[in-house]
Amino acid sequence: MSKRVLTTESGAPVADNQNSASAGVGGPLLLQDQHLLEKLARFNRERIPERVVHARGSGAYGHFEVTDDVTGFTHADFLNRVGKRTEVFLRFSTVADSLGGADAVRDPRGFAVKFYTEEGNYDLVGNNTPVFFIKDPIKFPDFIHSQKRDPFTGRQEPDNVWDFWAHSPEATHQVTWLMGDRGIPASYRHMNGYGSHTYQWTNAEGEAFFVKYHFKTNQGIRSLSSEQAAELVGRDPNSHQTDLLQAIERGIHPSWTLYVQLMPAAEAADYRFNPFDLTKVWSHRDYPLQRVGRLVLDRNPDNVFAEVEQAAFAPNNFVPGIGPSPDKMLQGRLFAYADAHRYRLGVNHTLLAVNAPKATTAQNYGRDGLMAVNSQGRYAKNYEPNSYDGPVETGRPLSAPLAVTGHTGTHEAPLHTKDDPFVQAGDLYRLMSEEERQRLVANIAGGLSQVSRDDVIEKNLAHFHAADPEYGRRVEEAVRALRED
Ligand code: HEM
Repeated sequence: MSKRVLTTESGAPVADNQNSASAGVGGPLLLQDQHLLEKLARFNRERIPERVVHARGSGAYGHFEVTDDVTGFTHADFLNRVGKRTEVFLRFSTVADSLGGADAVRDPRGFAVKFYTEEGNYDLVGNNTPVFFIKDPIKFPDFIHSQKRDPFTGRQEPDNVWDFWAHSPEATHQVTWLMGDRGIPASYRHMNGYGSHTYQWTNAEGEAFFVKYHFKTNQGIRSLSSEQAAELVGRDPNSHQTDLLQAIERGIHPSWTLYVQLMPAAEAADYRFNPFDLTKVWSHRDYPLQRVGRLVLDRNPDNVFAEVEQAAFAPNNFVPGIGPSPDKMLQGRLFAYADAHRYRLGVNHTLLAVNAPKATTAQNYGRDGLMAVNSQGRYAKNYEPNSYDGPVETGRPLSAPLAVTGHTGTHEAPLHTKDDPFVQAGDLYRLMSEEERQRLVANIAGGLSQVSRDDVIEKNLAHFHAADPEYGRRVEEAVRALRED
């Protein structure tokens, strides 16, 4: 069989891919060697800005299948029939480290799902934790700065990590979660995913419900201790990538069962916790899990850069029947992601194969910009209204309106009757077995004892005391013991 010919980027045959063209056998190189120039120049441009958070990740394709009728709660097309299947792409990630970082680290994991529905792409951009560290987006850049590399030392600094938490009592719940056993998943397959925020579903009658998403792993939860993780990071820094890639290549297709908690919209105002506070969960006794469907991953991307690095998820990619809640963090995220994509990938990032709708087509009056490859046809007008049969608005809002009251201003999130920053951190601690508590305390003390300032340590200890007196006492004793060593 004759081999295919190597070509330049414009398709001309390449004569020699081993030797550059030179002036004579031993002479300097020639500027006319198009193939050499093109190779070196392209190589210089292979990197794009990495994600400012969640830089390191792995992705896979699969499908979501509805197993239970939820049409009483949402008219979302992809959820409208038991048995209905929708193609998905899922990207898992760590948060704090840069692109070359290791996988088996103590960090939340991203769990971002793109549903390619017939009514457009729906992005559910969640984590493996049901809560988050903060509840106002204005704190997000400061939070992330405190967790990533220090601008002077170029390292993650326990002083910065814990100083931010010292000033953010609302983080105590998520810190307890992160320092506990689930803080280092054994692999992406062995962890749950959560939408974390409260979203809104609207049914065909226009009735609104608030909803929280829970993807429960069917592989079982498996975690690593700090010691196991340190060993694994040394052996295979890409352990999560290796695991996901190899499982799918071998035909072992990981799956998750999707459940939701649903709250009738009218109950939100009087629930004992502010249901739009991302640092809190809803009690499962109050709002039990209801099964919706099954998500399966069965195909690896062919090209990590094109399909994983260039994947763009945005929490404001909603479809009819699903919308935002007044959760302030979510509201901030509705801006942040598409803005990041325009910077990182350009204004036409939605034309890339992984980001474009698959079960429908985008048809609108947006045109042009860097790397525009979709003209929408010779006769498609680029203005609206028009007399040329161009696409028109539906007049149907995607979701129900949210009621608002009061005055504009910089307000703290409203507190409901049982809201304080520590109550649910204490609940989580009390749910743990004695062995889990021991590991939690050791993990916290291992980090907190490295902090150089006593006042920062004291502020953090006060948070654990407020969550549960035993929790506080044990962390305090463990920190003291390590600092006296
Ligand atoms: C106000 C708070 C937040 C802001 C401003 C924010 C901002 C960002 C930005 C700018 C990116 C990079 C996007 C890109 O370049 O593709 C990102 C990635 C991500 N964020 Fe957030 N984020 C916030 C909170 C959260 C929360 C609460 C969650 C989970 C519940 C979350 C989950 C993720 C995930 C999973 C990714 C990676 C998506 C992917 O795989 O491409 N973020 N975030």
